[in-house]
Amino acid sequence: MSRKPLDLYQALLATQPGPDEATRVRALRRILRRDRGAWPDAVRAVLDGAAVGDGYLLRGLLSIAIFAPDVRDALSRGLPFAVARRVNRIDDPTVRATVLAPLVALPERPGAALLPRGVSRRIEADALAAITAERSAGASAHIAAGADGWLAADDPAASPRRLPGHVWVFPPNRGAPRGAEPLAPRVVEALLARLLPRGGALVDVTAGAGTIGSVARRFGVRSWSGDIAPAATFVHRADARTLMAAPPRGVAAGCADLLVVHPPTYAVWRRTRSSGHDDQLDLYRDDVGAMIAGSLAVVRRGRHVVVISRPVRSAGEVWLATSHLAEGLAEAGVRVVGYVVAVATGGAEDWHLLIGQAARSG
Ligand SMILES: C[S@@+](CC[C@H](N)C(=O)[O-])C[C@H]1O[C@@H](n2cnc3c(N)ncnc32)[C@H](O)[C@@H]1O
Repeated sequence: MSRKPLDLYQALLATQPGPDEATRVRALRRILRRDRGAWPDAVRAVLDGAAVGDGYLLRGLLSIAIFAPDVRDALSRGLPFAVARRVNRIDDPTVRATVLAPLVALPERPGAALLPRGVSRRIEADALAAITAERSAGASAHIAAGADGWLAADDPAASPRRLPGHVWVFPPNRGAPRGAEPLAPRVVEALLARLLPRGGALVDVTAGAGTIGSVARRFGVRSWSGDIAPAATFVHRADARTLMAAPPRGVAAGCADLLVVHPPTYAVWRRTRSSGHDDQLDLYRDDVGAMIAGSLAVVRRGRHVVVISRPVRSAGEVWLATSHLAEGLAEAGVRVVGYVVAVATGGAEDWHLLIGQAARSG
């Protein structure tokens, strides 16, 4: 008997009569709670044959009953059982599909072949990140955008504190999930202090779980947040590359005093692409450039856009993505007026903030 979880599960199901999977799983649960000696022969034959003695696996195995079809498919493609259980905890099917993309992109492999190195580790890390993002979205579930799509400002209890100079040091984002790449709240606060007039409006087109909008509202800033894969209720599903081609409700040319474009870092972006192209860096630059170009018109004349990136550090080489993005801004008629490097204490995280100013009228 195969020891693969999905095969074992199906073999166990086959031992039970019953109209549907749920009924048969309930019957199996009752059986497996008993001593082995009291198990029906058919059940014992499946599990003895597979040499499975581990109670955890036994209890876990039946959780396949609640696996989404894409997670079952991933299991049949060789995703380790523990990782599949984790992926199954992601509620949003679109996010799950993104997390599983590296597995789905693999060419067909013979049934028993192991996954290429790193694939299941990467999926597990991204699943953890997605679960954390969904939880934090749940935590901010009470935060809702208004009828106009904007998140209203709280009555500002405090003014945002500045950080001095061009190198900002901030407390690390403890436990920040790798794939989610949230901006540390202290950096958001310093950005607001530097770039937004009191009562100003912010548009964040790559908002993820909405860190920037939720920090901004505490400092009296109203905001509109969008993301291609939103992870908070007040974040609208919108593609930054085409935002102004058909602006969503509440968004119009010149509606923002500050536009934030914080795209995925190259490392995260690349994971969602099928590999095999030599020109990945160019594709990345084009994709981020398209996000900036597609949303830039929201900025009021004379106000600011901030593009948050990180140098690409890959295979022993460094590519200064930030300088390419600065060229892109200049080509779009935006004057680059600031460049800040924000570094976490201890140096584990760095963000490069390019600050542009939209042309003034006249
Ligand atoms: C670095 S994360 C942003 C993190 C967020 N600023 C925060 O502080 O929590 C990058 C985000 O860009 C989003 N994204 C990628 N491509 C996009 C696109 N074309 N349009 C809008 N959002 C996009 C991803 O879904 C991801 O949530």
